[in-house]
Amino acid sequence: MLWPALLRTPLLSNPIQPDMMTRSPPSPFLPLCALLAGWVLLTSAALAQPVYSERVMSLLRQMTLEEKAGQLNLQAGHDPGINPLPRTPISSPLVEQAVREGKVGGVLNIAGADNTRQLQQVAITQSRLKIPLLIGLDVVHGFRTIFPVPIGQAASFNLDLISRAERVAAVEASAAGVNWTFAPVLDMARDPRWGRMVETAGESPWYTAAIARARVLAFQGERLSDSSSILACAKHFVGNGATEGGREYTGANLSFRSMRDNELPPFEAAVEAGIGCLMPAFNAVDGVPGIVNHRMLSDVLRKEWRFGGLVVTDHGAIAELPFHGVAATLADASRAALAAGVDMDMASMGFGPTLPEAVRAGRLDEALLDQAVLRVLAIKERLGLFDDPFARHDNAREQRLVGHPDHLALARQLAEESLVLLKNDKALLPFKTSARSIALIGPFGADQNHLMGPWEAAGIHREVVSLRDGITRVHPRIAIRTVTTGYDNTPDPKALARAVAAAKASDLVVLALGEKAIDSGEASSRANPGLPGQQLALVKAVAQLGKPFVVVVMAGRPMIEPALYALAPVVVQAWFPGSQGGEAIARMLFGLSEPVGHLPVSIVRSIGQIPLTHDKRSTGRPSPGPPEAWASGYIDETTTPLFPFGYGLAYTQFSYGAPVLLNADDPDARIYRINVTVKNTGARAGTTLVQLYTHQRLATIAQPEKQLRGFTRLYLQAGEQADTIISLKREDLSYWSTDTTRQPGQGWIDLMTGPHAGDTQATTLLIR
Ligand code: BGC
Repeated sequence: MLWPALLRTPLLSNPIQPDMMTRSPPSPFLPLCALLAGWVLLTSAALAQPVYSERVMSLLRQMTLEEKAGQLNLQAGHDPGINPLPRTPISSPLVEQAVREGKVGGVLNIAGADNTRQLQQVAITQSRLKIPLLIGLDVVHGFRTIFPVPIGQAASFNLDLISRAERVAAVEASAAGVNWTFAPVLDMARDPRWGRMVETAGESPWYTAAIARARVLAFQGERLSDSSSILACAKHFVGNGATEGGREYTGANLSFRSMRDNELPPFEAAVEAGIGCLMPAFNAVDGVPGIVNHRMLSDVLRKEWRFGGLVVTDHGAIAELPFHGVAATLADASRAALAAGVDMDMASMGFGPTLPEAVRAGRLDEALLDQAVLRVLAIKERLGLFDDPFARHDNAREQRLVGHPDHLALARQLAEESLVLLKNDKALLPFKTSARSIALIGPFGADQNHLMGPWEAAGIHREVVSLRDGITRVHPRIAIRTVTTGYDNTPDPKALARAVAAAKASDLVVLALGEKAIDSGEASSRANPGLPGQQLALVKAVAQLGKPFVVVVMAGRPMIEPALYALAPVVVQAWFPGSQGGEAIARMLFGLSEPVGHLPVSIVRSIGQIPLTHDKRSTGRPSPGPPEAWASGYIDETTTPLFPFGYGLAYTQFSYGAPVLLNADDPDARIYRINVTVKNTGARAGTTLVQLYTHQRLATIAQPEKQLRGFTRLYLQAGEQADTIISLKREDLSYWSTDTTRQPGQGWIDLMTGPHAGDTQATTLLIR
């Protein structure tokens, strides 16, 4: 298969965990991995010890205080009131004037080769020092070709595919003038009430770190200066997903030590992979808002990890410090953020207007200001902006690449692999293609507006393949009865009756349920993250017919809706599957593709169980699972999730043998090799995700009962049996015993393998 758009740029497969794709259909891209070997080290070394070029130093020497502060100002690239992503050239006199006067170092929320060139041109030709602009956008899961939301991508457990998708996102965004994305999101998500779970890779720090590496390498390419590369920005540093009660923007109470174990690893992985930018979180951890967390930004990030890149605030975060109650004025807030380690101010208009005066009044050391300016200029230099400022504003490239059919095909493939089959009673799926009619009921059957989910960048609603269109593509002759209803809170008896009639009259019944895009994502925390509106009533009404039916859930989080899982014979968790999502779902329903997705988060039985993850720690009164007094659990609820982490059915069945540690006798092993024999016991070919969890029995800190530490995907023909080997890095067994002490894994370690966290067999490893 040819991928013209991709072949022009380096493709980054998963160089970190080569065994994660042990057996799968062949990929045309894998040989390129070899070419890219060694790149990670080069990049991270380059960032670790920033040595500023003469060009950058000379610019600094020429700058006035106002120009220096201007470089630290990141503001909207369009005038207020204009659509954030205008697709036609816009006149933006206010912004242009500010750029001309050297008051802007970067702009955000504009895209399009023409729009962005217009502003870049002003910076390059009309500002005194001719310093190019950073142009940033939230390219979170694609630019124009919209891939599944990150939580859906994570469900694929296919790092190769994820990095190829991210490369496409970089190729498209860069062709449209964007040189900086505010991604990847590396927050840990352990609470489905928190709307931004949708942007994350779920609850495993180890897996999120693996995804972090893949995404950073894909965004930034082999060379950041390549016109198809964009600067990545890991966010939200750190503890953003641990907000109390899942309430957006709320503080988190985490010990520094537990942050080490659980929140920091993905960010550290991103830094090791050479990421050029980090964004502190809005929220406070232990009372300290992210942008003034000196310990995190300076001690950990800069000193310990030797990060030499750029730190940019979240949108308006400096202006929020007075609301946190930790700074009295915008000027104080600006100085505090700069002193803590922030370089750039996104949209607060704090740095630009207040820092020069602070220096003049002796309240701010100019060296601090200079340090931040140098970092901004150095990143611009690494992006190649001084050498070729217009490389990413090329209409021909934009026309050719944005929304390229090959990109759409990749989006469909990733969407297919993101689908998680949670329930399939009586093997109702896959549907028989002999069916002649299908009822498509619920809010999202014909929908094109929500399938992309939040952060749709330049995605276009009318180009989204709805589930209805997808079914038609897959099964052109089938008659579809669509009844769109269920989202409103008010019952609509007529629509309900139509839905029931359609279900009765059709061979197949599919309910397309879930959330609107706006119900997940930033500022969309939900106290009751179940099916909104009358959707459960719809499920109940259809269930009463006694006819088998399928529920497809499109949402940014799993639905905490026990009745849904009890009543529906078949449930597919489809997340927000992106612009090609409808066809991906239809292909799976009709058996043109196999379900291969697995849950990157546990699905709890009730809201009261939150947080409940696969890596909860051991306690002094272990819970037996079922309700029990005097044990660490509830008297009215179990301590097990409804669907465990890693869960996902296939259209076939597998039986797993016990794990065998192959190099138990090697006391110096740095990598342990664990063999698992798996047999496809069903009648179809299929893929299973062989997962490895570990637990250290004795440590100075109570350890998680299980932690994901490896996986392989294994594709087996019907009846076929095969061995697969999962590698476990010894260093992955370490844990933090204090804020500053990392303990190596030691003693007896349980090695557990199986198809999900709730179904494992064990062997042991002894590290002396
Ligand atoms: C979000 C960030 C995002 C920024 C710019 C903020 O509200 O928290 O994740 O990058 O807006 O759009």
